[in-house]
Amino acid sequence: MKKNSPIGVFDSGVGGLTVAKEIKRLLPNESIIYFGDTEHLPYGDKSKETITKYSVKITRFLAKCKCKAIVVACNTATSNSIDEIKTAAGKIPVIDVISPVAKKVAFELHQKVGLIATKATVESHAYKKSIKKLNKHIKVVELATPLLVPIIEEGFRNTPVSKSAIDTYLSYKKFEDIDSIILGCTHYPLIQKEIEIAFKGKVKVVNSPLIVVNELIQRLENENLLADTAEPEYRFYLSDYTDNFISLARSFFGKSISLEKKSL
Ligand code: DGL
Repeated sequence: MKKNSPIGVFDSGVGGLTVAKEIKRLLPNESIIYFGDTEHLPYGDKSKETITKYSVKITRFLAKCKCKAIVVACNTATSNSIDEIKTAAGKIPVIDVISPVAKKVAFELHQKVGLIATKATVESHAYKKSIKKLNKHIKVVELATPLLVPIIEEGFRNTPVSKSAIDTYLSYKKFEDIDSIILGCTHYPLIQKEIEIAFKGKVKVVNSPLIVVNELIQRLENENLLADTAEPEYRFYLSDYTDNFISLARSFFGKSISLEKKSL
């Protein structure tokens, strides 16, 4: 593994960009190869077998691209397929989006934590299990919010459509006395402001992208793999072109990014 090789990042769509953007901010020397599986989005309502099939194919592709680390920037892939992804990655370090967040939440001063995520992630109870394993005193209330991904992918952020869906979901009775909330889908930081407003600023939103990238930094440091190039490259592969993806990727990474359509 070489220091200046790229970091592979993948998600079903634009969600993983919230993690990739944080990698760029905190690790400005790192090159990134991003795979957005827009052809198969959403993952959240698919079976474990299907999510695993797609995730393993992407992992193999990123390994072929000589990535020095792979960030699974998708909670649904993490919660359903992390073991298979790690096997497919072989010796390449794999960073997932759930275990670092669970670790952080378990040891902070939370009593009752809310979790919103896709159906597949909620049904796996991956967050609840990981948090409870570390600290059994924390209450974790889970809610599947499947409409949020299509709303974000279709470009309906900051509109009455997103407001109505967010308000409806977050008025869930069991969320009444939560002190913090985990956005258990990498798409959701894109509507974080709207979520904070819906909770009237009274609920702390856990900063998952930051926590995940801190874990990545630690892993790269431990393996002596931090890049030192002054000219990082950002390459994006999409299994299907969507205007929303292209405009969001450009707004985060600049107009000159390389974008290629790639079906696996
Ligand atoms: N962004 C993904 C996640 O973190 C998946 C969204 C989807 O495709 O349903 O779960």
